[in-house]
Amino acid sequence: NELGLVAVGFSGGQCKPGVDAAPMALIESGLIDQLKNDLEFNVTYDGEVHAYADIMPSSDPDYRNMKRPKGVSAVTKRLCDQVYEHASKGRFVLTLGGDHSIAIGSIAGTQKAIRERLGREMAVIWVDAHADINTPETSDSGNIHGMPVAFLTGLAKEDKQDTFGWIKDEMRINTKKLVYIGLRDVDVGEKKILRENGIRAFSMHDIDRHGIGKVMDMALGWIGQDTPIHLSFDVDALDPQWAPSTGTPVRGGLTLREGDFIAECVAETGSLVALDLVEVNPSLEAEGAAETVRAGCSIVRCALGDTLL
Ligand code: ARG
Ligand code: MN
Ligand code: MN
Ligand code: MN
Repeated sequence: NELGLVAVGFSGGQCKPGVDAAPMALIESGLIDQLKNDLEFNVTYDGEVHAYADIMPSSDPDYRNMKRPKGVSAVTKRLCDQVYEHASKGRFVLTLGGDHSIAIGSIAGTQKAIRERLGREMAVIWVDAHADINTPETSDSGNIHGMPVAFLTGLAKEDKQDTFGWIKDEMRINTKKLVYIGLRDVDVGEKKILRENGIRAFSMHDIDRHGIGKVMDMALGWIGQDTPIHLSFDVDALDPQWAPSTGTPVRGGLTLREGDFIAECVAETGSLVALDLVEVNPSLEAEGAAETVRAGCSIVRCALGDTLL
């Protein structure tokens, strides 16, 4: 049971400071010890929360409507290498964010390693209130944490090396192997993208209608057995009642148990190869920070095989 941990203290994919403090908060609440002692993982961790200050460009003007394009590109490229390093050695990769832009690096790195090791395209389960599939052109905010899926699927492309031009085919994921769960704040341009590309998405409406059990059966059925899975979990998928400390909270979300249940079901497949836990921001709604961190730790433990009995 080998696990590689990368702690990413990065907030440049959006505008609110504080998400960079999440990895330390998660670790200080005992997450690594739980992985080692309770879940018996052999944890490889460099002991650092990476802020990547050394690779941040001194000047980083907006480009194609993106905010901090070079900084986010440089950080995610570096993270891609770090995740690839773990995944290519057969380790499960846990990436603690940071804002959701970092999934560009974690997913690109996992997919590259999975392609090399297994010759396979992996599936991505994206649990989020948001679809994060804006292209630079469809985005209202210019925040890159709303765009990672567009870059990962190739729906958004860029030639310039220092602005995501480093993302190559072997790092990209197939829109047909992408599944969303928990959506409830999807921009108009994103809805069009989801529709036109036939992307499988389970919104809160679907969860209300069918229940989370049936939704997980359908989501995992769509992916099919024996497909490596990368789970990217945005804590704002949970209702703000359980996870208030996050940059873009949206009411009407998952309960704590529904969030854990999603992670448990994915763990049960035995096909999970990597997990991101992102968008915990302890400095927002600070009274709720401990609760948000606790919810995040619980999701990680469930995804890594912790069971109730
Ligand atoms: N759709 C909005 C945007 O493009 C919000 C994205 C929120 N993303 C997130 N990872 N919390 O800016
Ligand atoms: Mn979100
Ligand atoms: Mn919006
Ligand atoms: Mn997100």
